[in-house]
Amino acid sequence: MTLEPSDLLAAAVAARARAYAPYSKFAVGAALVAPDGRIFTGANAENASYGLSMCAERVAIYHALSEGVQHFDAVAVAGPDDVRTMPCGACRQVLSEFGAGMNVIFVDAGRTRVVLLSSLLPDAFSGADLAAAHLGAPLPRRDAR
Ligand code: THU
Repeated sequence: MTLEPSDLLAAAVAARARAYAPYSKFAVGAALVAPDGRIFTGANAENASYGLSMCAERVAIYHALSEGVQHFDAVAVAGPDDVRTMPCGACRQVLSEFGAGMNVIFVDAGRTRVVLLSSLLPDAFSGADLAAAHLGAPLPRRDAR
């Protein structure tokens, strides 16, 4: 059974209900799918010290990492209804670490759209750049480039 983009989006919408966003009141949910079909969700978590707030996408990534999963095929993002919500720049960078080839799913004017993360973050910085600079960094995973 293949997961449809709308199914992953539904998981993101469900996760959005658990957002802690008392300051912006902009609740966001994110859902990642791993190659084995497992889904990991997250919601944004704000803080009275605004800069410590964390986006839904990164909460989802760290949730999955803490469960031992490091590869993802797609991420769905759900902001407030009728608001097209795309991953912020910081989240694009963090997502790309764990799946440069992943799809990003979101709703735009009522339509579900799927775009490649690499189109949202061209020429991403990666572990390959560190290795190229001979910093003694471990070689990055091939599939993360
Ligand atoms: N936010 C996310 O969680 N993901 C996004 O893709 C965009 C922004 C959060 C951060 C903050 O808690 C609120 O939305 C307003 O910026």
